[in-house]
Amino acid sequence: MQKTDPVTHADHVAVIMDGNGRWATARGLERLKGHVKGVDRVREVVRAAPDYGIGYLTVFAFSTENWKRSEREVTGLMNLFKRYIRGEAATLDEDNVRVRFIGDRRPLDRKLRSLMDELEKLTETNTGLKLTIALNYGGRDEITRAVGRIAKAAKMGMIDPAEVTEQMIGNFLDTSDLPDPDLIIRTSGECRTSNFLPWQSCYAEYVFTETAWPDFTVAELVKTLNQFRARDRRFGAAVAK
Ligand code: FPP
Repeated sequence: MQKTDPVTHADHVAVIMDGNGRWATARGLERLKGHVKGVDRVREVVRAAPDYGIGYLTVFAFSTENWKRSEREVTGLMNLFKRYIRGEAATLDEDNVRVRFIGDRRPLDRKLRSLMDELEKLTETNTGLKLTIALNYGGRDEITRAVGRIAKAAKMGMIDPAEVTEQMIGNFLDTSDLPDPDLIIRTSGECRTSNFLPWQSCYAEYVFTETAWPDFTVAELVKTLNQFRARDRRFGAAVAK
């Protein structure tokens, strides 16, 4: 098996880390405690990913829709992101992880934005795992921002509308430097995609697991990678008989 064979090898794994709130509520804890536990799992999965041949890991940390949650939960999550960046920056750098953020940063507070910038700068030349954190990310929002930029470039005469291609659109997305995800995992039993990487996921394999994100150990990751390997990926081609 070639390590880069997209039929058998999940080079880019993306995760919808769902179920933190339910995990906490089921234990009589406040929802934020589930997110705190979720951070531990992010740390473990990031650490383990290269051992399983994962080159790119993308995690959905906060969606453009998550602002609808209580002010307490939103503030708690924002503080958690700050704490994660402050606490993990040195380790991520030592582990040769390159970190990037996708999503619209403009509504985020100034302190969080500067921590995100600093982490990206600190790790920009690292050559190991490419960790992408989707923060205030929504797929439709991403496409809308890209279309706005393409329209602006066309208006300025820099793009000929007759020459717009899929490749060009991809280059205007937040994920322009990432390959499409091979495998998208959603934890905690919900079978929907929730505006996560809609453009990029056309040929992704989905694994929906009942396990809540705070219980998603490395052993669970290995299980989903095995499920992925058992799939028959054809990318639109016919079955060879
Ligand atoms: C969805 O669970 C999870 C989130 C909205 C937040 C995800 C955030 C983390 C795992 C924390 C840290 C992440 C990083 C990258 C440091 P939910 O609250 O919707 O769960 P529920 O469906 O049970 O309510």
